[in-house]
Amino acid sequence: MPNSAHKNSISIAVMPGDGIGPEVMKPAIALMDRALERTGGPKLSYEELDAGAECYRRTGTPMSEEVFEKAAAADAILFGAMGLPDVRRPDGIEIAPQLDLRFRLELFAGVRPVRTIPGAPTPLADPRAKNLDFVLIRESTEGLFTSRGKGEVTPDYVRETWEITRAGSERLFDFALQLGRRRKAKGSPGSVACVDKSGVFRAFAFFRQIFFERAKAFPDIDARAFNVDATALDLIRRPWIFDVLVTENQFGDILSDAGAALMGGMGMAPSADIGLTHGLFQPCHGTAPDIVGMGKANPTAMILSAAMMLDWLGETKQLPSCGAAADLLQRAVDAAFAPGDLRPFELGGEAGTQAITDRVATQLEALPLEA
Ligand SMILES: NC(=O)c1ccc[n+]([C@@H]2O[C@H](COP(=O)([O-])OP(=O)(O)OC[C@H]3O[C@@H](n4cnc5c(N)ncnc54)[C@H](O)[C@@H]3O)[C@@H](O)[C@H]2O)c1
Repeated sequence: MPNSAHKNSISIAVMPGDGIGPEVMKPAIALMDRALERTGGPKLSYEELDAGAECYRRTGTPMSEEVFEKAAAADAILFGAMGLPDVRRPDGIEIAPQLDLRFRLELFAGVRPVRTIPGAPTPLADPRAKNLDFVLIRESTEGLFTSRGKGEVTPDYVRETWEITRAGSERLFDFALQLGRRRKAKGSPGSVACVDKSGVFRAFAFFRQIFFERAKAFPDIDARAFNVDATALDLIRRPWIFDVLVTENQFGDILSDAGAALMGGMGMAPSADIGLTHGLFQPCHGTAPDIVGMGKANPTAMILSAAMMLDWLGETKQLPSCGAAADLLQRAVDAAFAPGDLRPFELGGEAGTQAITDRVATQLEALPLEA
């Protein structure tokens, strides 16, 4: 269990990881600290932990038990990105401590906001796609991913299977429905949709049935169900119809990258992995080996993930100054892109890590504390 109840400061396990992970982590921490200073928030104490593909190459383990224990004991985990395509275990798959952390800490709700930032380049021309604000919840401890490392493989046949439990689905849907309710209180439509493939798989008929059972306790929420293939279509055709989407692990993995594309690219998409006792915050992107060391990494997703962490700490520890710092940081990112001339490399522009960080830092000083 995280241990801040016994301490004054808030402890953050920092896991920068591989590739561009450390490059985006550094500015995100500096900006987060400054936002907290401005709102009079608590001082965060950071402990940097070694894990990832380079760690595996050096030590033979991607994340030691000691590192896992330290991450588990912190009040929150801030995560860069881990894994390198050419660093693989003997069974041929990549190391992925982020998946181990999700399973072992039961971080069942992968929260992937799809919020476009006015002024940032986005791919869809329709003006309604310039103001998207919906959230995809990806179940992160079950589904197809339970098969990871356990699949049956013969020279002629492979088998990897879905696993969905009643308890896992109930806590997932309760989380999504509560989020729908909180968003509705702030003006969102209050619709929560279960995304599945229930016409074909019994697993998803079960999943959908549990969704509607749990939704009965939320009469104020418009509970719906969509097929995953139709959802993929609508993510491109009319993504503005969505409010909260909740889905299985593998479906969520795929759909959330489509969500990142709607925001402009991987470097714009933040995320949080939330459980009943722990929270881990990381950009949706990976280690981007193709741009590592070039100063081209877009830090926006990491900065917004840090803002999500502050928001979560504010809520779970009842620290309004943390929530205010989250809000300030997000508004600073929005203000940095608002003039429309800040174009990250990945979106076809010239702005690298430093230029984007500097813009956000300037706004962080200039903005009033209240929106
Ligand atoms: N959570 C994680 O740690 C995580 C997630 C996904 C992939 N990975 C790992 O990362 C490695 C690379 O995976 P991939 O290439 O499929 O995905 P990736 O997200 O690393 O890169 C996909 C593309 O997006 C670009 N990109 C990603 N983040 C960017 C940023 N912040 N700024 C600018 N451009 C950015 C990359 O340059 C690349 O062209 C693999 O080893 C994979 O296993 C880790």
